Amino acid sequence: MKALFLNGPNLNLLGTREPGIYGRTTLADIEKAVSIQAKTTKTTVVFRQSNLEGELVTWIQKAKSERFGVIILNAGGYTHTSVAIRDAIKASGTPTIEIHLSNVNAREEFRKHSMIAPVCVGSICGFGAGSYTLGLEAALSLK
Ligand code: DQA
Repeated sequence: MKALFLNGPNLNLLGTREPGIYGRTTLADIEKAVSIQAKTTKTTVVFRQSNLEGELVTWIQKAKSERFGVIILNAGGYTHTSVAIRDAIKASGTPTIEIHLSNVNAREEFRKHSMIAPVCVGSICGFGAGSYTLGLEAALSLK
């Protein structure tokens, strides 16, 4: 199975960005941990990050033709605003799992609403970097 991990805006800053909320683990550290986990499960993982909404939309659109069986998506701030990402997930035909490092339900009111949750298979939040490894586990459970 091929799994596509997509990361939205500001997630390139993990490690130094609000460490009290997001921890000190970098996105590269997370990618390393997930890649080790993937090896033991014969899964290929590809990590991408963009601060641009349209680039995320294009990657979601192409996921099927790139032969990804699943998308694990941390859309960052676009989670709460993006009709375009929601529409892309719906159109993609690729099962998508929503993930967040922080517990978005325990933060500001505006983070409690996810534009993408209704078009995702399910959501994982609040486990820090562990949300990514749990995301892969959830992806494997879909088979
Ligand atoms: C986040 C939560 C979002 O509300 C926020 O805008 C982010 C990160 C998380 O992983 O906890 O950028 O997606």
